[in-house]
Amino acid sequence: MSDDVAPELISITIDGTDRSVRPGELLIKAAEDTGTYIPRFCWHPRMQPVGMCRMCLVEVEGPRGVALVPACTTPVGDGMIVHTQSEVAKKAQEDILEFLLINHPLDCPVCDKGGECPLQDQTMSHGPAESRFVEEKRHYEKPIPISDLVLLDRERCILCARCTRFSEEISGDPLIEFQERGNNTQIRTFPDLPFSSYFSGNTVQICPVGALTATAYRFRARPWDLRAVGSTCMHCTAGDSMTVQASQNEILRFLGVDNDATNHGWLSDKCRFGFEYINSPDRLTTPLLRDAEGELREATWSEALQEVADRLGAITEEHGGHAVAALGGARGTNEDAYALAKFMRVALGSNHLDAQMDDGLEPQFLAAVAGRGQISDLERAKTILVWGPDLKEELGTLYLRVRRAAQELGATLIVVHPRATGLDDRATHKFGYQPGTGPDVLRRLAAGLEEFAEARAALNEGPVVAIVGRSGYCESPALAEAVAAFARDLPEATVLPVARRGNVFGALDMGVAPNLLPGRVALGSDGFDGWEVPEHSGKGAAEILTGLTEGSIKSVLLVGADPVRDVPSGSAAAALEAAEFVVAIDLFVTDSVRHADVVFPALTATEKEGMVTNLEGRVQKVNQVVPGPGQARADWSILDDVATAMDRPIHLASAEAIAKEIGSVAPAYRGVTWDLVTWDEPDGVVVPLNGAEVFEYVPVDAKIETRSAPLTLHLARTLYDDGVMMRAGLSLHDLAPGVAAYLSTEDSVAVGVAEGGLISINGHQMTVQIDDSLAPGTLYVPFNQPGGPHLGTDPVIRVKAVR
Ligand code: SF4
Ligand code: FES
Repeated sequence: MSDDVAPELISITIDGTDRSVRPGELLIKAAEDTGTYIPRFCWHPRMQPVGMCRMCLVEVEGPRGVALVPACTTPVGDGMIVHTQSEVAKKAQEDILEFLLINHPLDCPVCDKGGECPLQDQTMSHGPAESRFVEEKRHYEKPIPISDLVLLDRERCILCARCTRFSEEISGDPLIEFQERGNNTQIRTFPDLPFSSYFSGNTVQICPVGALTATAYRFRARPWDLRAVGSTCMHCTAGDSMTVQASQNEILRFLGVDNDATNHGWLSDKCRFGFEYINSPDRLTTPLLRDAEGELREATWSEALQEVADRLGAITEEHGGHAVAALGGARGTNEDAYALAKFMRVALGSNHLDAQMDDGLEPQFLAAVAGRGQISDLERAKTILVWGPDLKEELGTLYLRVRRAAQELGATLIVVHPRATGLDDRATHKFGYQPGTGPDVLRRLAAGLEEFAEARAALNEGPVVAIVGRSGYCESPALAEAVAAFARDLPEATVLPVARRGNVFGALDMGVAPNLLPGRVALGSDGFDGWEVPEHSGKGAAEILTGLTEGSIKSVLLVGADPVRDVPSGSAAAALEAAEFVVAIDLFVTDSVRHADVVFPALTATEKEGMVTNLEGRVQKVNQVVPGPGQARADWSILDDVATAMDRPIHLASAEAIAKEIGSVAPAYRGVTWDLVTWDEPDGVVVPLNGAEVFEYVPVDAKIETRSAPLTLHLARTLYDDGVMMRAGLSLHDLAPGVAAYLSTEDSVAVGVAEGGLISINGHQMTVQIDDSLAPGTLYVPFNQPGGPHLGTDPVIRVKAVR
């Protein structure tokens, strides 16, 4: 029998009714799935059972009579007879609650959890009417901050170990633990060590009482005040399902939703707490226009639209559509991205547009890589190869899924990266390498030479899942393609390509790329006949910036793009300065928007409805929860008005109408309808490669050289940085690691600088920190830190000790 064949069901009796359940399943789950809720505190379906709280006691008939057993640790067996409502079971549940409440402060009126508290709810539904305990309760200092994001109130804790198990089993950073013994047992962090997990907010969500609370939500609302709407997280490309909650038109909380296909209910702290920017008083609320003094001043929509229509009209009349370009589109919905692709091609006649900031991979590779897999492939993977960014820093919930596959499901994990990654403690094989030498490492891995022999043998054991992307910005994008080319030929292999920005895959699928049209159709091929497409070849972000600097491109449209901060080469500021006319659609006046002549205020994903596409090609919904501030509008609506003002209409009426148009013209999206992708079905729809021209892989030998030097640069993202959404949300921005140069002890000696000393890298001075996880000859600098310089993307750097 193959693993995929469902096991035969067995029969058990619960409270007098027969149930068919899976053999070996835990009784608490089998009962719930067949309609009987057994109360619980410590049990969580995504973690190992521990039987700590005893709230789930039920009576089970056995050969030696009837016994009280915890339903969360008892597997079902054929013929089992269970009583969850018997006098004895009910008395046991009442007694457990009475014990749990002996020391609980009963401060529900001032507790954040009040109204959504399992302890409160189950006391009402399963508890005793009154307590026999009148003694003084135990007191602790309340609350104590255990990190910048989480507060601990030990009096409320019922010692269920959900938080400790999450940290140990799921996120792999056990920074919260039980301390002391007996009556003094309490949850604590370690002395001088904060709860600095990237996933700490999950413990707040799963704590069954108000012992762990979030600073961002504390005392802000009550559950009955909240409007809650299902949506999809837009911070990274994993497509995490979540609930967005708001009160009085202010976003107050994001909660993870358990989706088998994507996040299993978890969120990284960036996704969970990274909403403060939405409520920022610095949001743009009206259009801005540069005045005669060179200052951006508030303007009416008609003034701003007319200015753009006149100036863009004049530039395209004089120089043709290829004198205009666009950057961005990966922060909006698919409908916004489609509007951008149509506006550029139809209204302006330009193929120069790019959703990536010269920090990603070939668009066709991302949109239509052969053998593209799904996140759930990790559940059955025998071997997993991760050669890309540190997933813990860039794709938090995908990181958790890979951890689970290696730790719980027994997959062999192979990680290739220039420095320590979050997955190293679960990796069977970890290979560090100096940036620039990746092609040589790939050749040796593929040939199974020397230290790679065992890993190569493991890769012969399928199913293989390869997670492939740029491990850093000094890495050639062609290396990721070569890794995918190698992985594709492994047994039962699937490839998960990774790239930056929430809806980058949706934007590429909608044709926001120089060489792609909506529906993953290559420019110049026959698969698309939605509207007329200009014939000239398109330019990507790097060429657009060069064109602006050299003058061949006169104008650029920035749509939710901040190339000054995000383009790793650092060439964007000069390019925008050289541009004749810059238009921006954005939430804030960013470092890039400062260069704009006209600025339109945009909406966030919580202020509009639309579809988004994740790294698997899964199409999900984002939904409007609050209205946007002031006169802010959706990108598609702004672009439609600009096109109309230019007398080159693109005829877009609503997000739903655009989705319908996408479904009719974009081959890969045929059948993906507005009604099909609803919040009621958070799994969404995975868009197949049908109709797409599948990307042709380029093997490593054909395209990239190994580059070596005594010291080369590894430039990579961290979870928290100086990105515009982090900057406008102070609690996360303060957690960015800051500007520093990391070297191994050996390399620091070779350079002649000690920890805390100063070195100059390409003319920029930085403090040195020692990191002995770095591959020899590697200097690591976190990208886009507050106040940090652009170092360029050439791995070969000029380094000298300053002191
Ligand atoms: Fe359980 Fe919450 Fe206490 Fe952790 S803090 S042990 S989750 S009650
Ligand atoms: Fe079963 Fe806690 S839920 S012992």
